[in-house]
Amino acid sequence: MDLKLKNKTAFISGSTAGIGFAIAKGLLNEGAKVIINGRSEQSVEVALNKLRKINSNADISGFAADFSNIEEVKSLCEDLPDLDILVNNVGIYKSASFFEMDDSDWQEQYEINVMSGVRLSRYFLPNMLKQNWGRILFVSSECAELVPPDMLAYSMTKTAMLSVAKGLAQLTKSSGVTINSIIPGSTLSEGAEQFLEDEAVKSGKTKAAIEADFFKDVRTSSLLQRFASVDEVASTTVYYCSPLASATNGAAIKIEGGSTGGLI
Ligand SMILES: NC(=O)c1ccc[n+]([C@@H]2O[C@H](COP(=O)([O-])OP(=O)(O)OC[C@H]3O[C@@H](n4cnc5c(N)ncnc54)[C@H](OP(=O)(O)O)[C@@H]3O)[C@@H](O)[C@H]2O)c1
Repeated sequence: MDLKLKNKTAFISGSTAGIGFAIAKGLLNEGAKVIINGRSEQSVEVALNKLRKINSNADISGFAADFSNIEEVKSLCEDLPDLDILVNNVGIYKSASFFEMDDSDWQEQYEINVMSGVRLSRYFLPNMLKQNWGRILFVSSECAELVPPDMLAYSMTKTAMLSVAKGLAQLTKSSGVTINSIIPGSTLSEGAEQFLEDEAVKSGKTKAAIEADFFKDVRTSSLLQRFASVDEVASTTVYYCSPLASATNGAAIKIEGGSTGGLI
């Protein structure tokens, strides 16, 4: 299927690894011009080289900017070209007891997970509306709805992203711009892989056994009963970045293997 993404310009926050990297790869494979991002020049360069190896015709560039630093975000916005596609993917989490999390933990996650998308959308949405075409995707999480108590601050940011996306979509009425959220479930990014490895070492079990236990004891509601791959999350996301997804707006699109339940 041709997703009609050729020559569209896309920026993905937090895309030197994990889900963001897989989305960058997917968009490049569809012929989009892709701009990636990470916190350091070095990590951006390493990721650019990986992508060039995968796709030698790739029209790709990258910008280092840390979304915890408002000055770096301002410069990033000024340095980027006008965008057709903005994927608000960057996100951090901290797993800890509510009583152990101090204000700075809450503020850091809010700043990076929510304000990154707010600031980028405020900067790039006006031109999308002017050109009467654009896609903004907010990468939320199943935690927005499951709200695990050991990830309360993170879950709050992911619920907030749904709200921001839904509200911004109201500004696109009768235009060719759409703004949606993506809801991944537990996904095997490098971070999740590391978690499985660490737990395997601690417990003396295999990674496969740790994964099975996680879905049996923790993410019991998952119908998938395994981690999704980053490519599984990316393929759906890339479709919603495309002109083919023009009738979906203001939606929260689930790629969570059924974990959040619900009829719709
Ligand atoms: N993995 C999951 O199970 C899962 C499930 C649901 C939702 N999500 C959401 O999906 C998104 C991506 O998750 P992921 O697991 O793929 O993440 P990840 O593997 O931890 O992503 C790391 C990426 O984020 C960049 N990054 C981290 N902090 C940054 C900052 N302050 N400024 C700029 N870039 C930063 C890293 O860049 P450098 O290291 O190069 O700086 C790297 O490119 C997040 O919003 C996450 O909440 C993930």
